[in-house]
Amino acid sequence: MRRPIIAANWKLNMLRQEAHDFVVAFLSELNNPTQDASLDIVIAPPFTALDATRQALTASNVALAGQNLSFESSGAFTGEISAEMLRDAGCRYCIVGHSERRSLFAETNTDVARKVRALLEADLQPIVCVGETLDERESGRDQAVLAAQLDGSLEGLEPEDTRNLILAYEPVWAIGTGRTATPEQAQATHAFIRNHLRAGPLGDQAKTLRIQYGGSVKPDNIRTLMAQPDIDGALVGGASLRPDSFARIVRFDQPENTPS
Ligand code: PGA
Repeated sequence: MRRPIIAANWKLNMLRQEAHDFVVAFLSELNNPTQDASLDIVIAPPFTALDATRQALTASNVALAGQNLSFESSGAFTGEISAEMLRDAGCRYCIVGHSERRSLFAETNTDVARKVRALLEADLQPIVCVGETLDERESGRDQAVLAAQLDGSLEGLEPEDTRNLILAYEPVWAIGTGRTATPEQAQATHAFIRNHLRAGPLGDQAKTLRIQYGGSVKPDNIRTLMAQPDIDGALVGGASLRPDSFARIVRFDQPENTPS
């Protein structure tokens, strides 16, 4: 049984006070969040709001994540943040290889693999993102692209690393566009990813790997996505910026008046 994991990716949003106010409102929206052990909830603020978010989350079981890190551990790397620094700031997870980092900041699969290694060595759990562009999907190259991203980004991984690893399938054409993959499309791709990793580095441990879907996840589509057998959670951008909508997502709520 894979425990669901829902993560908020705040990207380049949220000042410290806004992060604090979000957490207070979000926790009050949830029923008894300290007791709810049925799923993992994660928030990834920008670095500058990590501490304010951590303080506001004290006494809840909502975990903190970084959005990126350096694969270097220390030294003359101006502007960088190490895995150990993230752990020191209270993080348990870190997003790696998000498509915005790959496309806007030229991050390669090799960079991602080094970051995954740095996180695992620091006892943090990487949330490794993969996903194809619309052009790649429409030209039938999506599986080859995903396979190359998985092989490159997870190079050197051992089956026992699986329990500390989370994958996020985020089709680039669905991120921030309002165009979600259908539950069937997402399920088919998640099954492909799991089978690919099972035949490769993770072996049978791939059955226990948690794979999130990301790309225009909203309160009104979370339930059908989570009903798919290989979808184990969600990585949420835009809809995680409002406490009420993120609370509805972690409760798998449908909006009022929508038949379930
Ligand atoms: P979105 O972003 O939910 O706004 O599409 C998801 C992501 O980029 O992780």
